[in-house]
This record gives sequence, C-alpha cells and structure tokens, in this order.
Amino acid sequence: MKNIRIIATSTFGLESCIKREAQRLGFENIKAFDGKVEFDGDESDIAKANIWMRFPSKILIKVGEFKAVTFDSLFESVKALNWGDWIPVDGKFTVIGKSVKSTLHSVPDCQAIVKKAVVEKLKIKYNVDWFDETGADYTIQVALLNDIATITIDTTGASLHKRGYRQNAMDAPLKETLAAAMLDLSYWRKNRILLDPMCGSGTIAIEAAMIARNIAPGLNRSFACEQWQRVGKDIFKAIRVEAYKAIDYNVNTIIYGSDIDPDAIELAKQNAEKAGVDDCITFEVKPLKDVTLMGDYGCMITNPPYGERIGELKIVEELYKTLGKIMATNQTWSSYVITSMEYFEKLFGKKADAKRKLFNGRIKTDYYQFYGPRPPKGWNEDIN
Ligand SMILES: C[S@@+](CC[C@H](N)C(=O)[O-])C[C@H]1O[C@@H](n2cnc3c(N)ncnc32)[C@H](O)[C@@H]1O
Repeated sequence: MKNIRIIATSTFGLESCIKREAQRLGFENIKAFDGKVEFDGDESDIAKANIWMRFPSKILIKVGEFKAVTFDSLFESVKALNWGDWIPVDGKFTVIGKSVKSTLHSVPDCQAIVKKAVVEKLKIKYNVDWFDETGADYTIQVALLNDIATITIDTTGASLHKRGYRQNAMDAPLKETLAAAMLDLSYWRKNRILLDPMCGSGTIAIEAAMIARNIAPGLNRSFACEQWQRVGKDIFKAIRVEAYKAIDYNVNTIIYGSDIDPDAIELAKQNAEKAGVDDCITFEVKPLKDVTLMGDYGCMITNPPYGERIGELKIVEELYKTLGKIMATNQTWSSYVITSMEYFEKLFGKKADAKRKLFNGRIKTDYYQFYGPRPPKGWNEDIN
C-alpha cells in the first residue's frame, strides 16, 4: 500500500526538476511546493527515491502536519502521531528544527517539546520508562512555516549530493545535485557532445556520464533507513540489484572536461574512475583560450570562477569574453553558464534565451541559457 507520504527536499529553484524526476520514477500523487516535492509511496519507494533521485537533498517521511501556535498544542499533536510505526524500542532519535514566520519561533524549545512528546508516546507503546537509544538513527525534524508544523523523519542520513565518488574537491566545487539539475535543465542528451571548459574536479562531466550510462546516483553509498527495521537492507538490496542491471556499459557518448589547473584535472580523473565513468570522459589540461568546439549541436555547460575574490574580477571578465567568442564560432551549440556576475551577458556578448535563479551553496546565482537550434530529424539518433 502506498500509504507513506514521502518528501524530497529541494534547494531553491530545483523543484520542477525534482517533480519531473518523481514522475519519471512512477511515484504517485506528486505535489511540488517551495523547497520540496511530495509524493505517495511505500517502503520500496523510499529506497528507490534515495538510490535513484539525482536532484533532491534528502528523502524524508512526513509523519504529520498541523497548525501549532502554542507549545501545548505542539506537544499534543506530536504525541498523537504513530511514532511506534517507525521507531523501535532501541531507536536513537534526535530532533532538529527550524521556524520561519511562526508564533513558535524558539527552535530549541520546539525541539525539546517534540522530543518529550515522542518519548511519552513511545513509553505507552513499549511499556517502558527509559530508552537507551542504542539502535539505528531516526532524525526527526520539526519545521514550522506560517504556524504550520511539518513533522518528518530523515531516511537519507548524509545529504544526497554525497554520491561517494568525490572524496576530495578543488575550490568551489558544485554540489552533485546542482550539477545534475543543470544538465537536466539543458538541451544536453547523451547523443550530444558535452563540454565543460572549466571543469575543476569534474562534477558536471561525471554527473553527465552517470546519466548517460544510467548509473543510479546512490548506488555506492549507504542511507540511514537501511538500518531501520521497517525499511531495511533487503529492500535496498533488491533496488540495487535492479539498478546494477540497468547500467548501460556500452553507451556511446562524448564528454569533454578541461581546466587550466593540472591538479584539478588529476582529481577529476580520480573522481571519474571512482564513479565508474572514466572511459566516458576525456579530461585535459587546457586554458580556456585554447578550447575549440568539435562537432555540431553540442552543449557547453560550465561553472566558471565568479570574480568574487579580491583581484580576480578583471581576469574573470576577460574569461567570460573569451568564452563568448569561442561559443560564437559555432552557432549550432547551446551554452549554459552558472554565475553570480550580474553583467555576465554583456561580457559573453549575447542575451540569454532564459535565466533561472539558483543557489550555488549560499551564493545567489543565475543559470544563463543560450539555445542553439534543434538538430535535424534523425540526427545522431543511432549513436546509442
Ligand atoms: C568554480 S571552479 C569549477 C568547479 C567545478 N564545477 C567543480 O565542481 O569542481 C572554476 C574552475 O575554472 C578554472 N579556470 C580558471 N581560469 C581558467 C582558464 N583561463 N582556463 C581554464 N580553466 C580556468 C579553475 O581552475 C577552476 O577549476
């Protein structure tokens, strides 16, 4: 029975990508809100969402949602929820919280009250007075927004951008979830050439190769709810077995990543190898000025330096001008650049066809999109 309400949390601007992804994965009753997408599912869908979703930060279970303007009503409403359905007698449960535009604005007090209410409910369920909390982790969140409390349990653990392939990173790496969403928002598909000419530790190129090869992003990591009685290892094992079978080892895709920094390229190569896609990507040490566009209808997607460091601005302005000149050499290509620089289009020499506000960590950025023409019908369709 699909009677669990599942929440995929989103960083600002990625909700539509997550909604489409939930549709592709066959989840039911999907609804997008600011910062999250909800859908119905069962235990197997929780595992599927964790292993297969490329764009969310976390997969949560919605245990309850209600109005709360007093601590008493918060306590009673949380106590009324069926905590025993999820948390066993030895479960370790921590409560985190946030409060936005709400009467109950003291987050530590809300957390303490929620913890007390859960303890009281579980005491009745298990007929004990004390919990040792020596078992699996259950991180409960109380999130207040406009006096509505949403109570969740985190099934993911370490955030979903931690795929397990990037042990080290150079300066200012993109989160893997954001890199995957930038690809999803572009014209790039596996039959088109992809180029990241300032690839750093290779995140965009590696995420593209994982999509092309149909490698589930969460295949090589563990999740909090694998330790839970109710979800557990067997369900994850079944989803992983299917995910391994779904990998397309013979995919024919062309991905280039280059960077001026040899250390970054070395790291990108190591990361690609860990992700199992090193044979899909050509990484090269190359300054931007020497980059040329090979083939037609390719996509250039990049996260360049933003010019925010002291002394960097003039260099970055020149870099953006150079990028614009390179992309002007072949009008069939599409270009996608994420940057916080407000006059980027002026330097690039072209007005973007679309701009989307995104957050790269805490930095407010725009994702500039310059569309090339659609390839003629039948073009390169035989490549895969
Ligand atoms: C913000 S970082 C990219 C991070 C990358 N997206 C990642 O996830 O690791 C910008 C990159 O631009 C590279 N870069 C700066 N100037 C360059 C130039 N003239 N030619 C090529 N790459 C350059 C830097 O070495 C750096 O790796």
